[in-house]
Amino acid sequence: QPNIELLVISNRIATFDPLQPKTGGLAAALEPLVERSGAVWMGSSGKLGDGNEPLDIGPHGEGKVAKLDLPREHYSGYYEGFANSILWPALHSLPDRMAASAKDYESYREINKFVAGAAFHFRDRDAIWVHDYHFLPLGAGLQCLGVDKPIGLFLHTPWPAPDIMERVPNHRELMQSMLAYDLLGFQTNWDLDNFRACLHTHLGLEVEHGIVISARGQTRCQKFPIGIDPNQFAQHASESLAKQDLYISSLQKKLNGAKLAIGVDRLDYTKGIDVRIEAFGQVLAAEPRSIVLLQIANPSRTEIEAYKDYKRNVESLVSRVNDEHGTDEWRPILYENDPFTRAQLACLYRAARVGVVTPLRDGMNLVAKEYVAAQDPNDPGVLVLSKFAGAAEDFDQNEALLVDPTHPDEIAAAISKAANMPREERIQRWRSMINKLEAYTIHDWSAHFVRELDKSRVGARGTV
Ligand code: G6P
Repeated sequence: QPNIELLVISNRIATFDPLQPKTGGLAAALEPLVERSGAVWMGSSGKLGDGNEPLDIGPHGEGKVAKLDLPREHYSGYYEGFANSILWPALHSLPDRMAASAKDYESYREINKFVAGAAFHFRDRDAIWVHDYHFLPLGAGLQCLGVDKPIGLFLHTPWPAPDIMERVPNHRELMQSMLAYDLLGFQTNWDLDNFRACLHTHLGLEVEHGIVISARGQTRCQKFPIGIDPNQFAQHASESLAKQDLYISSLQKKLNGAKLAIGVDRLDYTKGIDVRIEAFGQVLAAEPRSIVLLQIANPSRTEIEAYKDYKRNVESLVSRVNDEHGTDEWRPILYENDPFTRAQLACLYRAARVGVVTPLRDGMNLVAKEYVAAQDPNDPGVLVLSKFAGAAEDFDQNEALLVDPTHPDEIAAAISKAANMPREERIQRWRSMINKLEAYTIHDWSAHFVRELDKSRVGARGTV
């Protein structure tokens, strides 16, 4: 990784407590970068203010964390509104979930302006790396303030096709503002192709050799498929097995001879948990008492109506399947809302013969990768993976069992095939996946992005 002083900006920052659960893919992914590289990581403190509170800056590993109280007046329109009720469903190609409001866009812009103002404090850093859909116009805001350092954006979510982007209010202005970034990073080729098509359709611009030229200068568009630290996960898995976790030992009793399948998600309608539960009901109808699903579903964005509905819907499906296929002493779906530590998760992944990751659409989905990394090399489990997760660009059908996440019968067939797969085939599939995970880890990912961003440094902005 080039020796440069980085400012990292994301809405959510990590909890920094190894015993605390991780807070979604993004925060967990950025933590090692800040710890190791001496970066400053700025993000929301989780508290709201009137816009005048000072930054709360503290050390973290080699780096620093700068927590920001976002202004109360605009927070809900920004977070629950434009970011999570418009952009989130649109970016996941689920336009029917969009709940548009023109006022929310104003709040989104205001918060972006506010964060740009706070980031100005760190204008002496060598480069700025912004994360995710909360801050699409942040680069433009920083440039308006005169910040003349390389600025990159990595989008952790997917990017949709032009007809879906068209339904986002102010989509042209938003996309135009994204061209203030020197580097735009996406998870997969699919996202990159869609972004290219959107630039063509909505702004009449072309990407050539990975570069788009606008009035501001050059923006490079590239793919950086996010990874994990597979060794750390494998280590967690063996260490916590040795520790004899209470939850795990009681789980063995609850299985009562059945195999274990696991799903770990934020309780989000993009994750396909409802269809998965229905599929699981089908597996149990065909092979009664053969398998238990441990579904960990961490409540998320709980103020938003669509999330409340989804939570209720999933809960009622879980009860239905448990009523239909369970008995007084045996429940086929163990449904947990409480968070688990990373070490516990690693151990649970290892105990599960089947990892079920079936989002309707997902940027990458790090659970898929973590599940693989935690397996016992001599007796690994099998990954059932949505073909619409970014991870399915990394893992092919000879490795994971790829499924259409909207088809319960396809998912059911894959779960049952995974649960009954001979050990040799499981080992073969797993080896091929773990090799890929080791070839491009989370550390390679961040070093790769920073190296590319660094190419736009000092007077070279726009000329690569
Ligand atoms: C996804 C998004 C992240 C977000 C995380 C958790 O992974 O890409 O930006 O932080 O979900 O969601 P939350 O709204 O709780 O931050």
